[in-house]
Amino acid sequence: MSISGLREVVGQTATVRGWVTHIRSSGKVAFVVARDGSGVLQCVIAKNAVSAECWETFARLTVEASISVTGEIRADVRAPGGVEMGVSDLRLIGESPLDYPIQPKEHGIDFLLDHRHLWLRSRKQVAIARIRHEIEQAIHDFFYERGFVRVDTPILTAAIGERSGLFATEYFDEGNAYLAQTGQLYGEAAAAALGKIYTFGPTFRAEKSKTRRHLTEFWMIEPEVAWNDSEANMVLQEEFVSYIVRRALDRAANELVELERDTGALERVKPPFPRINYTDAVKTLQAKGSTIQWGDDMGAEDETLLVADYDLPIFVFNYPKEAKAFYMKENPDDPRTVLCNDCLGPEGYGEIIGGSQREDDYDRLLSRIKEEGLPLDAYGWYLDLRKYGTFTHAGFGLGLERTVAWICGLPHLRETIAFPRMMNRLRP
Ligand code: 4AD
Ligand code: MG
Repeated sequence: MSISGLREVVGQTATVRGWVTHIRSSGKVAFVVARDGSGVLQCVIAKNAVSAECWETFARLTVEASISVTGEIRADVRAPGGVEMGVSDLRLIGESPLDYPIQPKEHGIDFLLDHRHLWLRSRKQVAIARIRHEIEQAIHDFFYERGFVRVDTPILTAAIGERSGLFATEYFDEGNAYLAQTGQLYGEAAAAALGKIYTFGPTFRAEKSKTRRHLTEFWMIEPEVAWNDSEANMVLQEEFVSYIVRRALDRAANELVELERDTGALERVKPPFPRINYTDAVKTLQAKGSTIQWGDDMGAEDETLLVADYDLPIFVFNYPKEAKAFYMKENPDDPRTVLCNDCLGPEGYGEIIGGSQREDDYDRLLSRIKEEGLPLDAYGWYLDLRKYGTFTHAGFGLGLERTVAWICGLPHLRETIAFPRMMNRLRP
C-alpha cells in the first residue's frame, strides 16, 4: 500500500515498501521511519512481538536502505500521517552503505547538485517536485477548461526565435539545427488553424548568464490566441497566474508548509494586476536611483526595485521597440514602442511572463526582420501567416521554473527542476 492510503485501513494489516529515513532503538522497542514518496510512516517494532530474524533485520537497517514492512495500522494523532504501524514483519530489500552522501547537516550547493540524483529524495525536494507537478496540472486544466488546444512544437529548428544564444547541432545535409528557444512562431501558425492554442515544452537558451533566474534548459508555456489584442492578452495572463497560484494553495498546502512558505502573499494574487506603462516605470525607477535610460530593457535589479511597491504581480507594458523581439506589433499611438508586456512576480521574483500582440502587417514585419538582420529564408513561412488571411493575435510565454520558484519561495531556479541545466552543469 501507499503510505498516503493507510488512514483508510486503521485496524487492519498492511504492507508498505519504501526507504528508511530514521532509525532508533531503546533495546526493547525499535522505531523505523520510512518514506515511499506518498508520505512518511513511523513503524514500531516491539522485540517480544516479532521473530528473532525480524529483530536482527532491524539491526542491519541503515538510512536509505529499501525495506518492506508489514503490520497493524494504528491511529496516532501525533504521527505525521495520523497513523503508525505496529510491525509484525520487516524485510531488507536493498542495503544502503553507511557512506550515503547526504547527511542531516549543511552541505554546499555544489555538493548537493553533484548528488542531485540522491538529493531528490529529501523532504524539501519532494515537496518542490509535488508543487511543480500540481502547477503543471493546473496549467493543463486552465487551458482545457477554456477550449485551448495543446500543440507540440519542434525542438529542432532552423535559426528562429528570441535574441539570446542558440545551441547548435549538426543536422544531416541541412546544416545546423538549433534547439528551440521558443515555440511561439509555430504556435502562431497553429492559432490560425485552431484559434486558441498553447504549447508546453522545453526551451533552450545558450545564454552565458550565471544568475539565479537563468537555466540553459527550461520549460515554457506559450498560449497564442487568434483575435486577442494586447489588453486581452494581459487579462488572460492575470487569470492564468491567479488560477495557478490558487491551485497550489488549495492542493499543495502541505508541501507549502513543508517549505515554510509564507502563503499570505500568495493569497492576495487575484485579478486585476496593476499595469504600468514602460515610460512611467522608467521615471519611477530613475526617481529610486536606477541608472536605467528610456530604451533600455529592464534588468533584474530594476525589476526588483519596481515590484517593491506592490504586493501583487504587475504588468509593465509597451516597451521600446529596440528592447524587444522583432515580432511584436508596433504601437499605433507611439511607434517608438511595441504592444507588449512583461509580468513581474512580487517579492522580488521579477519577470515570470513575456508577452505581446504580434505584428500582423506583412510589410512592417518584413522590414523588422530585415532591420534585425535575420535570415529571410528561415522566416518565409512565418511571413506567410501575414500573407494568407492575416489576423490580430497575441500570446505570451510563462517560465515554469520561475513560477515554481516564486510559488515555493525559492531564491534560485536550480531546485525547481529535477535535473537543472546551467552553464556549468550538465551532470547528473
Ligand atoms: O520573455 P521570453 O524570452 O519570451 C519568449 O520566449 C516569447 N516567445 C514568449 C511568447 O510571447 N510566446 O521568455 C518567456 C519567459 C520569461 O518571462 C521567463 O519566465 C522565462 O520564459 N525564461 C527563462 N526561464 C529560465 N531560464 C531562462 N534562461 C529563461 N529565459 C526566459
Ligand atoms: Mg522576456
